[in-house]
Amino acid sequence: MHRMTKPALMFFGDPHGDFVPVIAAVERFQPEAIVLLGDVQARQPLHVELAPILDKTAVWFIHGNHYTDSDADYDNLWGSELAHRNLHGRVVEIAGYQVAGLGGIFRDKIWNAGRPIDEAAFASADALCRSMRPEVRWRDSIARRHRSSIFPEDYLQLFLGPPADILVTHEAPAAHLYGWRAIDELAEALGVRLVVHGHHHRDIDYVGEGLLSAAAPFRAFGVDKGSHLAWERDPQGETELGGVPQDLLDIAVQVLGAKAQT
Ligand SMILES: [Fe+2]
Repeated sequence: MHRMTKPALMFFGDPHGDFVPVIAAVERFQPEAIVLLGDVQARQPLHVELAPILDKTAVWFIHGNHYTDSDADYDNLWGSELAHRNLHGRVVEIAGYQVAGLGGIFRDKIWNAGRPIDEAAFASADALCRSMRPEVRWRDSIARRHRSSIFPEDYLQLFLGPPADILVTHEAPAAHLYGWRAIDELAEALGVRLVVHGHHHRDIDYVGEGLLSAAAPFRAFGVDKGSHLAWERDPQGETELGGVPQDLLDIAVQVLGAKAQT
């Protein structure tokens, strides 16, 4: 039996408005920080939803595709006091790890990521906005829907930026049936050893399920709605790319939601 330690980080699958599992897990495991993997859909401003745990952990998030479903979904995220905790398009040091974030999804009308990036219809939100007549804009900019689309500019900002230890995404890597090679390429460019994604509502240990080779440069996990993945602090800070220690993997699997307990 592996000793239970407080995880450095916990990653939560798409809440879709239900924060009970997030609050319960934070109170039980007491992680240093948490990351919501998109589709938050808070019914009140996010800092109100998570008020019981705001003094217990540091809250971070990426956005998903459903945060643009309604004005309320949008405003309860971006109007929240936690809006500045969005990881999209940047690398932030969290609990001792450099964590990169790519929120949103690939949409063909912006960039079909199965095609080369220079063939994207619009390179940036600004480019899309310039193509729109003022009367069809939403709040003086692009349509609400496309505020959850991934633009090449967002992707390249990460791709060409500093290295990271962990990449959190809403979209899945290529090993997923609906995943994207562009996610793998980003992970490899950043040099991360862990990719964690939401969106598909299933707990997936890609190496454990034989979807990804153990020799791959990074481990990958999908996290289900209502579930979580915990990541322990690297005690030595010596973990090398592709060489995640077994004890880290043990605890990740140990607390990978309810399914792992069986
Ligand atoms: Fe989603």
